[in-house]
Amino acid sequence: MADPAARTSFDPGPPPAGRFDVCLTDDQVAAFHRDGFTWIERITTDEELQWLEPIYDFLFASKRGSWKGSYFDLARPYDSDGEDFVPQVLTPETRFPQLLGTNVARNARVIAAQLLGMPADDLKVWGHMILKPAQVGGELPWHQDEAYWEEHLAYRAVGCWMPLDPATPDSGCMHFLPGSHRGEVRAHRHIGDDPSVHGLVTDDVNPAGEVPVPLAPGGASFHHCRTLHRTTPNISGRVRRAWANEFQVEPVPLPVEDIPDRPWAREFREAWAERPAIRS
Ligand code: NI
Repeated sequence: MADPAARTSFDPGPPPAGRFDVCLTDDQVAAFHRDGFTWIERITTDEELQWLEPIYDFLFASKRGSWKGSYFDLARPYDSDGEDFVPQVLTPETRFPQLLGTNVARNARVIAAQLLGMPADDLKVWGHMILKPAQVGGELPWHQDEAYWEEHLAYRAVGCWMPLDPATPDSGCMHFLPGSHRGEVRAHRHIGDDPSVHGLVTDDVNPAGEVPVPLAPGGASFHHCRTLHRTTPNISGRVRRAWANEFQVEPVPLPVEDIPDRPWAREFREAWAERPAIRS
């Protein structure tokens, strides 16, 4: 097979026709509201996973992402050369819209709607793919996803995370801190205290009681946008690919007096604005 990095175009066609439907039990919904996360064993078919793999590999092998600047390393400065530790592709669905027609996308939306108590059609979504190379993939330390977002808005949001490879503590599975979604967004900083590193970390965490959630390929976890979570380094001998989809109710502007001060968010916006000029 041709080197995927050498390809300039790739047409995977539509997703396989086989349909698979899943939603959460009442106990799983209750666990989410109590703990801030839950998971399911399967969200799609083996056939669909096999269809996804070359799409995923094409995006990463080409380092092209889905639009200029949407491929970058989460744990290193945007303009770094050399091997990536934790590369990410943002919004792969803009490059391959057929991703929105998958069992993964449909089931994740139905489940996010269950968790948010909203009609599925009222949710907006964007995807991202995060890869941890075998024996190289770095950790993504403790953070809350909302810390990445605009601080003047109020969010109701759920993230769905699905591995394409076995996700274990050795390969970089998710770890969650139960109940942490009930608090505020904690103080974050950029990894390495470098605003040109996209990844954020909070030091305001006591990890006692953290729960690792190993998943087989095609399993999926769901977490609230304030749930503290991290992924471990990939010290295994195989790649760990994951596709995440973020579902939100349209966020609402906060009253001016309620807007929190988040210095890392200001730094983040400045570095982000510079980013497309330094890496394409
Ligand atoms: Ni996260």
